[in-house]
Amino acid sequence: MANEVFETVRTILAVREYQDKPLPEDVVRRIVEAAHLTASASNTQPWHFVLVRERERLRKLGSLVRTGPYIANAAAAVIVAYEKQSRTGLSDASRAIQSMLLAAWGDRVGSNWTGFGSLENVRIEFGLPDTYEVLGVLPFGYPKRKVIGNKKRKPLDEVVSAERFGTPLT
Ligand SMILES: Cc1cc2nc3c(=O)[nH]c(=O)nc-3n(C[C@H](O)[C@H](O)[C@H](O)COP(=O)(O)O)c2cc1C
Repeated sequence: MANEVFETVRTILAVREYQDKPLPEDVVRRIVEAAHLTASASNTQPWHFVLVRERERLRKLGSLVRTGPYIANAAAAVIVAYEKQSRTGLSDASRAIQSMLLAAWGDRVGSNWTGFGSLENVRIEFGLPDTYEVLGVLPFGYPKRKVIGNKKRKPLDEVVSAERFGTPLT
């Protein structure tokens, strides 16, 4: 029986080039709802997400995130921040990121995680209070090229053991 969630996990790749085409409103809505619906430790939801769609702001983001200049060409982006005082904020926000990436790919919208902390410039520019840490920025858009599911991963047995470390799966 086909498992659509697994297929989404299997085929998703980092997409860094986007078509110059807007995303439908319902698709964008699903992406932020996926973040909103994500589980967090003790259900504290210690996060905030800023949806950015104005071209000038997307360009600004592209200039602020050193490892994500291509955000400038995305149809939309989400800034992901978590409350600094939350012990689990980093994990909770990371899980919300994965929800958004998978939900987007389920609609054939490409994305990628850019940045990893040290995004104080983004926090200030987009008006997030200093009680938040910006974890990353996710650009979204229809992929410019066909995305072929060619993942480069370590062999399964190198990263998964059965029962005890080092025992391969049969
Ligand atoms: C925590 C994290 C941070 C990342 N940061 C960046 C980044 O700043 N810029 C970028 O282009 N890609 C970034 N990536 C994407 C990874 O480089 C990419 O997912 C990885 O090389 C595997 O490629 P694939 O997703 O196409 O299989 C990041 C991914 C993760 C999980």
